[in-house]
Amino acid sequence: LVLVVDFGAQYAQLIARRVREARVYSEIVPHTMPVAEMVAKGPKAIILSGGPSSVYAEDAPSLDPAIFETGTAVFGMCYGFQLMAQGLGGQVDATGAREYGRTRVHVGHAGTLLGGIPTEHNVWMSHGDSVTAAPEGFEVLASTAVTPVAAFENVDRGFAGVQWHPEVLHTEHGQKVLEHFLWDIAGCGQTWTIGNIADEQIERIREQIGPDGRAICALSGGVDSAVAAAIVQKAVGDRLTCVYVDHGLMRKGETEQIERDFVAATGTKLVVVDAEKQFLEALAGVTDPETKRKIIGREFIRTFEAAEVEIIKSAPEGATVSFLVQGTLYPDVVESGGGAGTSNIKSHHNVGGLPEDLEFELVEPLRTLFKDEVRLVGEQLGLPPEIVWRHPFPGPGLGIRIIGEVTRERLDILREADAIARAELTAAGLDRDIWQFPVVLLADVRSVGVQGDGRTYGHPVVLRPVTSEDAMTADWARIPYDVLERISTRITNEVREINRVTVDITSKPPGTIEWE
Ligand code: XMP
Repeated sequence: LVLVVDFGAQYAQLIARRVREARVYSEIVPHTMPVAEMVAKGPKAIILSGGPSSVYAEDAPSLDPAIFETGTAVFGMCYGFQLMAQGLGGQVDATGAREYGRTRVHVGHAGTLLGGIPTEHNVWMSHGDSVTAAPEGFEVLASTAVTPVAAFENVDRGFAGVQWHPEVLHTEHGQKVLEHFLWDIAGCGQTWTIGNIADEQIERIREQIGPDGRAICALSGGVDSAVAAAIVQKAVGDRLTCVYVDHGLMRKGETEQIERDFVAATGTKLVVVDAEKQFLEALAGVTDPETKRKIIGREFIRTFEAAEVEIIKSAPEGATVSFLVQGTLYPDVVESGGGAGTSNIKSHHNVGGLPEDLEFELVEPLRTLFKDEVRLVGEQLGLPPEIVWRHPFPGPGLGIRIIGEVTRERLDILREADAIARAELTAAGLDRDIWQFPVVLLADVRSVGVQGDGRTYGHPVVLRPVTSEDAMTADWARIPYDVLERISTRITNEVREINRVTVDITSKPPGTIEWE
């Protein structure tokens, strides 16, 4: 185990991921956690993340120097590097020399940390203060034009640090530096593999649910709930029942993927509720985006709870269904303040024959995993690639990609156009470069066109391919013209009602990814 101490910048999650990429398990802890508590977790190494740019800043988070007396290896990055220098008796000065962004470092003495790394290379920096003297017993390894001490190590004590951010993509050889620390200085074994992740989670869930417990899971069609369900299925077999609510707002082929391919791959017991009619009736005449969302959310809960009731009623005599599977990921756990415990959720019923409030214990097989790890686990468990690599898709589905009222006819038109766009993106090998690729039907807009000999009066669709890391910000994706051309030609040829294809070239902000 490696602990990544979070000093409040965005870097801790990235560092934790990079550590896992080096096949060492990592967890993030807040900098306010007492050292004794950190030690109690038994870490092999502790990494101090970046944070504010100066240790002298007002309210700069501090570090209990006791951390250096625990015998645990410590690696400081950026702010963590300065805290380390300060805590061990080195010198940190506000030299006024700032470095932000790409910076050239000179490796004077490679030592263990920078072994095999080019003497001159580019790294990503973001700091105001500089370490001007390394603590006693440390060797200075690198410098920049303005920072005399940009990296140091004390291999005997298992300490090392760099002024730069080895975790970011723009830093050359960053992963290598991290690996030198983890493997060669801290002596961490490379045991965190995808096979292990899956096995560990299956074992943990088997224990949590116990020999008699029963669980239910709502499948959305996305990778998180599918992988969560697959893990639980492996742990407890058909004491898990999955529910898939087909609200009629899914894309072409997605329901079949779950119904047929997911079940074939995992052997999961699945209840499919065909609720299309109910959803479309509830959405009739509605054009306001937030109203659509509310209606879809409400109908979803109703439908899922009704299915839940059926499952509970049909459970064998004496058995109780008391576990609810959710695909919560590690970033959600960290953002909501962590906590290792299990939580409960109340489900309210107004269907006869059951207590009004049912209490479920949450089962969260993915709560220690990052999205990329979830995908790898999904592959390991043999899930279909269409599910494992599916782009994020909003809960309200195509309901918020039809601008105007949602009807069955409009959904079918959009489904055809969307399927063509997705197929061409896949054929061009671009799926993994693109974060999401909404296709939006401007159902209330008509424009004149000409096709064959005749004038047409059809609808436009908008292609909205974006790149993003986390959907908080996004950029419009530069899809090659020939791919766009194929998509446009096919959509206008194959979908009779569409006579115009446009591309949205707005970043987020100011645009959002979805149109509603
Ligand atoms: P926006 O459009 O706000 O979307 O840039 C950011 C991300 O959230 C997804 N999204 C939703 N997901 N229910 C969901 O489950 C929703 O109502 C919803 N609205 C947007 C969107 O697809 C993108 O990934």
